[in-house]
Amino acid sequence: MTYRVGYFVGSLSSTSINRILARALIGLAPDDLEFTEIPIRDLPLYSPDYDADFPPEARALKRAISETDAVLFVTPEYNRSIPGALKNAIDWASRPTRPTSFDHIPAAVIGASRGPIGTALAQQSLRGVLSFCNARQMTAPEAYISFSHDDFADDGTVTDPQMEARLRAFMAEFREHIQRVLTVLPRQDQTPS
Ligand code: FNR
Repeated sequence: MTYRVGYFVGSLSSTSINRILARALIGLAPDDLEFTEIPIRDLPLYSPDYDADFPPEARALKRAISETDAVLFVTPEYNRSIPGALKNAIDWASRPTRPTSFDHIPAAVIGASRGPIGTALAQQSLRGVLSFCNARQMTAPEAYISFSHDDFADDGTVTDPQMEARLRAFMAEFREHIQRVLTVLPRQDQTPS
């Protein structure tokens, strides 16, 4: 059994440290997790005016989420919350309500900043949003990554053994979380029309 994980990178930066972190997490994940990025860059800004007829980018987003077993959010902190681009993507995915695309989906959040609190407040903010969207979040371990190029190569190789062990343990626990959630809440076919 392989679990399909869709991952979101909350940064649009071409030199994103969170993208490096995402690469690292994929490299350290258990073999039975299969990863696909769910892109957020080309989504228009959400408006209820679109509810009757979603644009292709938003349909693609909802289809991509419907084709995954779990979602992983790797995000920077912007002004003590999540970047607007990521919030916009979640707002799209949350419509139409009942169910949202994230209903009962196994989810994990993680992020990197260059500061000492390593996106703690952004993750707290994201957890509140995902909670309202009815995602089934992994609550432990938390991982607030204070990013240093001493610990990571750009290709996602983790060069610090302690960081490697920490990220490996995070992904191993996420895999267990996915299995636990899907055992009681199997994914329904939510492919949008
Ligand atoms: C930041 N940054 C930042 N860092 C932090 O620890 N807490 C914060 O609230 C903010 N706020 C913030 C707002 C905006 C608009 C920018 C552009 C940046 C710094 C941020 O962590 C840093 O730029 C990271 O490199 C962003 O991650 P990516 O884009 O490299 O993945």
